[in-house]
Amino acid sequence: MKIAVLGTGVVGTTIAAKLVSQGHEVRIGSRTAGTGKFTFADAAGWAELIFNATKGEASLNALRAAGAERIGTKILVDIANPLDFSKGMPPTLFVKDDDSLGELIQREFPKARVVKTLNTMNSAIMVDPGRLKEEHDVFMSGNDAVAKEAVAAILKSWGWKYIRDLGDITTARGTEMLLPIWIRLWAALGHADYNFHIAM
Ligand SMILES: NC(=O)c1ccc[n+]([C@@H]2O[C@H](COP(=O)([O-])OP(=O)(O)OC[C@H]3O[C@@H](n4cnc5c(N)ncnc54)[C@H](OP(=O)(O)O)[C@@H]3O)[C@@H](O)[C@H]2O)c1
Repeated sequence: MKIAVLGTGVVGTTIAAKLVSQGHEVRIGSRTAGTGKFTFADAAGWAELIFNATKGEASLNALRAAGAERIGTKILVDIANPLDFSKGMPPTLFVKDDDSLGELIQREFPKARVVKTLNTMNSAIMVDPGRLKEEHDVFMSGNDAVAKEAVAAILKSWGWKYIRDLGDITTARGTEMLLPIWIRLWAALGHADYNFHIAM
């Protein structure tokens, strides 16, 4: 599949490398084109499916640069978190409670099939859940059932067993609001190699 990964940070490059290793064609999107990367617009317009792995506070602008017409009705996998570092550490959330970044993106791009997922663990775990010894979960939010099935198929191909479909895109509020505890766990544990598990 032709997949655009918007974002040149650790998440974007890790996701892109995993997809390439699986035989997908991948374009990494950035503000500027260069060696091994395309503009957000050139990556998004070419792709059949798009990952948003841009900085949360810049995601709407990055997606505007990609362009609503180029994004169209494509599946848009949103991994970004609405973190605000302007007051230092720990960051706060610039949208929360009765709204979320996933919803802001879905409202701005109403035709796109936004699926929020993978935003609650580090990038190494995203593409290799087996690196953790114990069972653990990935959450998923989105309005389009077919899009969620397609994204779940990608996640399963990466080894995910516990994919928790929480419901429509408003459920992204909950997973984005896990970030304050995720960040505190990072400090408490002294490393970032952990994830959440729903025990039943
Ligand atoms: N790091 C993690 O382990 C982790 C885990 C879960 C979720 N996330 C989320 O995943 C996303 C990516 O995280 P990351 O650590 O890989 O990278 P990041 O540093 O948060 O984001 C890097 C990307 O954001 C783009 N960007 C930054 N400022 C911009 C602006 N003003 N306008 C347009 N684009 C801008 C950059 O564009 P250029 O390419 O042009 O520089 C780059 O592609 C974030 O939303 C983060 O919260 C991260």
